[in-house]
Amino acid sequence: MATLNSNYLKLKAGYLFPEIARRVNIFAEANPEAQIIKLGIGDVTEPLPEACRTAMIKAVEDMGDRATFHGYGPEQGYLWLREKIAAGDFQSRGCDIDASEIFISDGSKCDCGNILDIFGKDNTIAVTDPVYPVYVDTNVMAGHTGEANEQGEYEGLIYLPISAENNFTAQIPDQKVDLIYLCFPNNPTGATATKEHLQAWVDYAKANGSIILFDAAYEAFISDPQLPHSIFEIEGAKDCAIEFRSFSKNAGFTGTRCAFTVVPKNLTAKAADGSEVELWKLWNRRQATKFNGVSYIVQRGAEAVYSEAGQAQIKALISFYLENAKIICDKLTEAGLAVYGGVNAPYVWVQTPNGLSSWDFFDKLLYTTNVVGTPGSGFGAAGEGYFRISAFNSRANVEEAMKRITDNLKI
Ligand code: MLT
Repeated sequence: MATLNSNYLKLKAGYLFPEIARRVNIFAEANPEAQIIKLGIGDVTEPLPEACRTAMIKAVEDMGDRATFHGYGPEQGYLWLREKIAAGDFQSRGCDIDASEIFISDGSKCDCGNILDIFGKDNTIAVTDPVYPVYVDTNVMAGHTGEANEQGEYEGLIYLPISAENNFTAQIPDQKVDLIYLCFPNNPTGATATKEHLQAWVDYAKANGSIILFDAAYEAFISDPQLPHSIFEIEGAKDCAIEFRSFSKNAGFTGTRCAFTVVPKNLTAKAADGSEVELWKLWNRRQATKFNGVSYIVQRGAEAVYSEAGQAQIKALISFYLENAKIICDKLTEAGLAVYGGVNAPYVWVQTPNGLSSWDFFDKLLYTTNVVGTPGSGFGAAGEGYFRISAFNSRANVEEAMKRITDNLKI
């Protein structure tokens, strides 16, 4: 009989968001009249920017004419999009990133997992706790961990606790780690990192030969002009970091699918024979073998993000969600809850009241207010006693959810 990848059997029951959906479905079936408001998964609700839609419609028309039809595109993405990204997201902020270092993909969740294809099996890996579960689960699947303990922590991973005490920014470890996942603005806590904090990580990574896997999917939500948007704004980062970006949250592409990963050309890791090899070459080889690129139509839509109209429209979208986040922070504070994040990020991280566990608070909120959030413990053991509320929803739903919470939740 064929054998399976038994690493999958180490995974905890289900991926967090399907598990939430399962519980919500049970509730909805038993309470068909309930008007459930979902502030759980960070999925956008507002329509695609007009500039993107117009560009995609035009691209569909291109596909209907032999002269402008497109078959397979470059696996790395079309150069016209990569050049816009290099100029618009990096060079404009003083980062020395070239179009050839940008790889277009169908999502940064996918890339965060796929990147492990090009790393060895014996790296020591550090994640924050709480953390976006994809970093952990993909390492489990790849066989980089042992079994999980009762708290759900996997043997072999190094967990760096983040909490209100350290402003949700991890302390640089004393020991040497090879791969470090950082996410700023942070999912799930909504925390941000200063240039100084990121510089400390880059200095650590350079001193130890480590690679930082930097998830900047939420960078567009940074409104504080002092905060860096990219790890490549930090001196020396091109020697030690890979960055993941997405059009999902800034331009509403969660259902459309487009993202990109930046792998600097000079970034190297050690081969078994001790030689240093450029990771760019391996990632390029990996993509060319396992990926056929994002559709021409979607890439044209993403390109429109960099037009004048596109920029204005995504700014308006981001401001809209940030205003939602502010309403959530204000109302929950008024209700007596301790809240974090939600200022330069679309997530509000809430301490559960009266010592309730994260899942107990999830149930209480669902059953008393019909509002869905995400239990902090789903992001790691140190997330226990916290709860994440997403600002991705309509204004009416956010206001209604907050009204239900302030009216009904006795804290
Ligand atoms: C979340 O809710 O954490 C997001 O949906 C993550 C993602 O974009 O995959």
